[in-house]
Amino acid sequence: MINILILGSGGREHALAHKIKQSPKCGNLFVAPGNAGTQQIAKNLELDILDFDAVAKVLKQHEISMLLVGPEAPLVNGITDFFKMKPGFEDLKIIGPSKDGAVLEGSKERAKLFMESHNIPTARYQSFTADTLSEGEKFLETLSSPYVLKADGLAGGKGVLIIDNLTEAKMELGKMLTEKKFGEASQTVVVEEFLDGIELSVFVLTDGKNYKILPNAKDYKRIGEGDTGLNTGGMGAVSPVPFADEEFMHKVEEKIVKPTVSGFSKENIDYKGFVFIGLMKVGDEPFVVEYNVRMGDPETEVVMPRIESDLIELLEKTAAGELDSARLDVSPKAATTVMLVSNGYPEAYEKGKPITGLENISENEAIVFHAGTKVSGNEILSNGGRVIAVTAMGNDHKEALQKSYSQIKKVCFENINFRKDIGFDL
Ligand code: AMP
Ligand code: GLY
Repeated sequence: MINILILGSGGREHALAHKIKQSPKCGNLFVAPGNAGTQQIAKNLELDILDFDAVAKVLKQHEISMLLVGPEAPLVNGITDFFKMKPGFEDLKIIGPSKDGAVLEGSKERAKLFMESHNIPTARYQSFTADTLSEGEKFLETLSSPYVLKADGLAGGKGVLIIDNLTEAKMELGKMLTEKKFGEASQTVVVEEFLDGIELSVFVLTDGKNYKILPNAKDYKRIGEGDTGLNTGGMGAVSPVPFADEEFMHKVEEKIVKPTVSGFSKENIDYKGFVFIGLMKVGDEPFVVEYNVRMGDPETEVVMPRIESDLIELLEKTAAGELDSARLDVSPKAATTVMLVSNGYPEAYEKGKPITGLENISENEAIVFHAGTKVSGNEILSNGGRVIAVTAMGNDHKEALQKSYSQIKKVCFENINFRKDIGFDL
């Protein structure tokens, strides 16, 4: 039995907690700060997850020996290195890469350099700073429309611009570099070729030498039906991705997963955790669009339910560097999730709305994963832009979606919004 702390408060963390809780190895499970969903299956701890001393204190207090980091921010800030160096935490099993691994998400330029060094297929690019703005403009002239500009640093998912017009692209490059359009994050800008294809995400669990490829997924990022309107954190997801057939996934493993993991070894990057590889399928070929150093949200809500193996065992082997001896069994069934969001999201949104009907969802039909929710007295209130993810399984994604949508009808909060067309393009 092992006591575990999960950091984070979203649907991803509820889905991880839900899967971990199924393991006979699970001792006391804690989530910090968690949400109303994690509170039902674990103990929520009020904690600033970027305050590593505070995290250290609760690890000791509750005799926790595994730390699973949900979001990227603590990783990019070096939580793994912090505990590796802190006396008294030598035996702590940390799931999440060290800072030199997390920088693959924290810096797009660093990620491109990594891909270049290890011959991993990705869009042709160059990066620029305010001093090299005019070279950036010249580089744009060598590309064809549309133009892709990426703020190097973390910009809350908003730092990528895709622009049709060359003059406008040059202007925006100037704004990013000289007017700090995305603050510090756009001090360096990656300018790259547009990849014309269809996106999907591949998830890998690695101990830095060995790896397991987890179920793949496709998420739906735009707020509006037909993939229109503003970008969100994700409005729904489907796993597996029907167009990622065996032949394509073989290419992904050979051309992307293997060189990525061997790149970690070659560069002495201590990487024990999840790698989320954002891919574009162009024709029949995979290209890396981005690396994230964590699981995706809402992708976790469809990936975890398809994993049949014991997650704690997989994570223990990851921490021990023995992932080659672990088993990964995946359900052949499809999983889908639909995210219920607050009115106004992804812009300013309403919070504090009582959520009703959750108890009417039958466990045999769907799993409710909480995202932005909190308990208040005997009510559950909305507490974020993304509120609840309803996941269902079926023989194919159509059957699963039908279940997700029929169960959603039972849940209500004021001005509820969700996309009615998840999976429409498959
Ligand atoms: P990123 O933050 O790098 O994942 O970029 C955000 C989104 O922009 C991606 O999910 C893609 O939809 C899109 N994108 C990024 N880079 C490219 C590219 N080179 N070609 C086409 N679309 C891209
Ligand atoms: N759903 C996209 C992400 O987690 O980054």
